[in-house]
Amino acid sequence: MRVNLRTVFLLLAPCTIIMCFALFTGCARKENVRRSGGVPVAAEDNDTTLRFLNRGVQAFVQDVKVNQYREIECLINTEYTVQCRRDDDDVYMPFSFVQKYFEVYGSIEKVHGYERLEFSYSYSKVSPPINMYSPDGKFMSFEHFNVEMRSRVKCITATEGVPMSTQWNQEGYYYPIQIAQYGLSHYSKYLSEGEPDITILTDGSKQAIADWSVPDDCEVRSVWDKSRGSYVLELSVPDSLKSRGISFKVQENVNFALALNVRFVTNGSISVSIKLDDVTFHINYIFSTTIISRTGRKIFYGMGEKTSKWIHLVRDLDKDLVKGLQLYVPHAQKLKVKANKIKILSMTIRGRGRVDNITLASANHMDHFYDAANWFVNYQDTKRGGWPIMVAREIIPGKMELPPGWYSAMGQGQAMSVLVRAYLRSKSMSYLQAAINGLKVFNISSEQGGVKARFANTYDWYEEYPTTPGSYVLNGFMYSLLGLYDLMQVTEDEPYRNVKMIYDSGMRTLKSLLPLFDSGSGTFYDLRHVTHGIAPNRARWDYHTTHINQVLQFSVIDADPIFRRTATRWIDYMKGKIAPHN
Ligand SMILES: *[C@@H]1O[C@H](CO)[C@@H](O)[C@H](O)[C@H]1NC(C)=O
Ligand SMILES: *[C@@H]1O[C@H](CO)[C@@H](O)[C@H](O)[C@H]1NC(C)=O
Ligand SMILES: *[C@@H]1O[C@H](CO)[C@@H](O)[C@H](O)[C@H]1NC(C)=O
Ligand SMILES: *[C@@H]1O[C@H](CO)[C@@H](O)[C@H](O)[C@H]1NC(C)=O
Repeated sequence: MRVNLRTVFLLLAPCTIIMCFALFTGCARKENVRRSGGVPVAAEDNDTTLRFLNRGVQAFVQDVKVNQYREIECLINTEYTVQCRRDDDDVYMPFSFVQKYFEVYGSIEKVHGYERLEFSYSYSKVSPPINMYSPDGKFMSFEHFNVEMRSRVKCITATEGVPMSTQWNQEGYYYPIQIAQYGLSHYSKYLSEGEPDITILTDGSKQAIADWSVPDDCEVRSVWDKSRGSYVLELSVPDSLKSRGISFKVQENVNFALALNVRFVTNGSISVSIKLDDVTFHINYIFSTTIISRTGRKIFYGMGEKTSKWIHLVRDLDKDLVKGLQLYVPHAQKLKVKANKIKILSMTIRGRGRVDNITLASANHMDHFYDAANWFVNYQDTKRGGWPIMVAREIIPGKMELPPGWYSAMGQGQAMSVLVRAYLRSKSMSYLQAAINGLKVFNISSEQGGVKARFANTYDWYEEYPTTPGSYVLNGFMYSLLGLYDLMQVTEDEPYRNVKMIYDSGMRTLKSLLPLFDSGSGTFYDLRHVTHGIAPNRARWDYHTTHINQVLQFSVIDADPIFRRTATRWIDYMKGKIAPHN
């Protein structure tokens, strides 16, 4: 969002925000300083404001004619100088300076045929939740998340079907929070988009065989499969990647979500040829424990150790292509691939086995959602019911560190939000049981390897990063409370009493400590300035809006007016309105 506009001049007068007031006192002429007299300038005089505003528009319409303006030096906080311009009435400062110095944002946009500078104090947007919340509904505004395309996601693995993170370790590791967000985003996308468009490429019927190109050394026939209760194609094809394999043409450039059922008795692979611009790439899903690799135009995804069980393989081919292409590209050069330049050409299968119901769809959100939910069922540790994070986290080296194997209250809570939704949709008790087991670490202190901190020895807090002393990361705490809330809606008896105790205690804390995170002009990300005696960690604007979105979400499920009041004030901060001073 940051732009560099060397030649644009910001009109000083119409601003009501403190930034411009500071500019005035810093370098405007004496009259202005006197006139402003300690209150924001524009609030003083409507006429003046209007006059300046109009001039602002004129200036941009006609292009600033630099010649009409004389140079003037501005001394900035007695520290250094910036070359500005003046005319008889005003002083103009380079926007490139203003933008950097005050961390504000702007870009020149074309509107109704003329250019204008669109200025904003923050770069982020609030997404207010709808006015009801239910544990099987959309999760906040997560339908807008695109977790898998984040640069810190290596790829969606073909073993578990969940994202693998490289944020704190280049090798890649599973990060429960990321997996939960992946699941919740696809669940929310499903609810907002509705049923996908599905094209069946081939099923198990005799007629389907005609679509396949079958070389002499291969055989395909339609057989009844008892375990699936349907006809499937039985393949007798060499498994070597060097063999031609059996294939069929696709020609698809809109729907890239592949799903199929396959069962190999020998080694085997599924390959898809995809054209990007004029170059053809081949994505190969093979039996290998290497998660992802690439040689030239061939990209390989490992499906794990060879198995002769049925596999339900679900892949977003466009995203698999992008992750493959980005594999050895330095971070700074991450490429953007446009979906309209992708075309699926053909599909090839190698190996002996059976295949059924190969489809391309606009999306397979619910499959991705269940992959995430199943990951939480399969990778929960039995003793503590936690999803340990097997990578070291150094928040401040030497001061705030977590060795591998830590739990996160946010990971536990977001997992609950996934598992409760999976339970309500599928009615499968294993999801509910995993969510209930996930409660245990909430009742274990950070010192003892859990996630519970106690602020001022009075308030229970559930830590996203359970450091000692605590870090008190606000957004992680609120996500954990939402997970507990979800679980509370679907439990009874003892599990209900347990989750209610933990939730109530956390909500008491939230309502008491929310004001501690208010800086008067924004919010704090955590309380390291309190617990570690170091400089405060201001929330950057997207975290500030996350705080607002969360507080608004709590205002929907809890009648306490603190939530709405707080959200209103925090939204104002995004336009530069700040708390009054003495
Ligand atoms: C500006 O004008 C509006 C509408 O006429 C008025 O409500 C407001 O009080 C005025 N502000 C100042 C600072 O005079
Ligand atoms: C299966 O095939 C893949 C791809 O050719 C190969 O990398 C892998 O080593 C093979 N596995 C076995 C057990 O032969
Ligand atoms: C075939 O796959 C599609 C997409 O995954 C699914 O919606 C459909 O139910 C499947 N049909 C059968 C018969 O399995
Ligand atoms: C939490 O732990 C305390 C003791 O450490 C115990 O008394 C309490 O019952 C536990 N609560 C839950 C919900 O497990």
